[in-house]
Amino acid sequence: MRPLPFQSGKTVTDTPNLKASAIAHANIAVAKYWGKRNNEINLPYTDSIAFNVDALVTETTACWNDDDFRDGLVINGWEVPAQNIGRLQRILDAIRQKTGLTQRCILHSKNNFNLATGLASSASGCAAAALAASKAAGLDLNESELSSLARLGSGSAARSIPDGWTRWHAGTREDGSDSYAVSIAPPNHWPLHVFVVQVSDTPKSISSTDAMRKCQDSPFWQTYLNETKDAADIAQNAIVQRDFAALTAAMHHNTMLLHALAMTCQPPILFLAPKSLELIQHILRSSQAMQVCCTLDAGANVVILCEEVCWPFVKNDIIALGLPYIQTHIGHGARLI
Ligand code: DP6
Repeated sequence: MRPLPFQSGKTVTDTPNLKASAIAHANIAVAKYWGKRNNEINLPYTDSIAFNVDALVTETTACWNDDDFRDGLVINGWEVPAQNIGRLQRILDAIRQKTGLTQRCILHSKNNFNLATGLASSASGCAAAALAASKAAGLDLNESELSSLARLGSGSAARSIPDGWTRWHAGTREDGSDSYAVSIAPPNHWPLHVFVVQVSDTPKSISSTDAMRKCQDSPFWQTYLNETKDAADIAQNAIVQRDFAALTAAMHHNTMLLHALAMTCQPPILFLAPKSLELIQHILRSSQAMQVCCTLDAGANVVILCEEVCWPFVKNDIIALGLPYIQTHIGHGARLI
């Protein structure tokens, strides 16, 4: 097979086998990404902090071939209509541009959790796709290059590439070359328990992308930006020092700011369901007596973090509300399988 030309003039001499598989975990933000300075390549206004969730996994196989006339995506056995794969298209186009490949790519993806319910399946999906498709194309990208590539599909996917607890640097460059995530601590740095509580399994009525855009018209948008400008530093310090009280304060404040902002859009965006509120109230009460805290991304499901000694109590609270849940830990970054 012919060597692959690179834009830089370099060539890949090893023949890529054009097929590779990778897994990536969903991540949940402690200090959130909300609002884009560039909508095309998902550049955020602020740095964000998140952790990978061990039990929420997307596994993707990418295969470049000459037989197909367009890129394709199959999720859990269902073919996604061509008009809905725009996010992945950006990743695949970037790989074609870097390598000179002309082939199309078919991605087969499996999620072990529900799509579009605020559990960041786009993050794990785009991260796994970026790793599998770039490897299959013969590219050996380093972690920050992979994180930037995954970001093109979905901003939060940048954080599903590195290990454990991660920080996505917003960067300042127009081309996004300094906007990628790095690991700030491995999964075993802090042996917290994670509960992912499924409050709703109905898809969100609005995507994060659209909700972010609308939030910029809220009368509180500027206040939100001012209030969150140091959120990533505060959250990172809490994590590095394993200071649960500081983590709780940072995470609760950041979560409430985002949801309050969404509620002040016109028309209002309400991600919370009644059961989300009920559970949050339980957790806020419990957090005064023990080391437990919670957050929600752009959906109704609630993610709870707690110290080892507290998990039986937290579990009882969730069971008392009759909600399905997954108990898990902080997860690893994306990897080839
Ligand atoms: C609330 O990464 O899904 O989960 O870049 O438009 O794909 P796009 O948005 P997405 O937004 C995630 C928003 C959030 C907060 C976070 O994960 O930081």
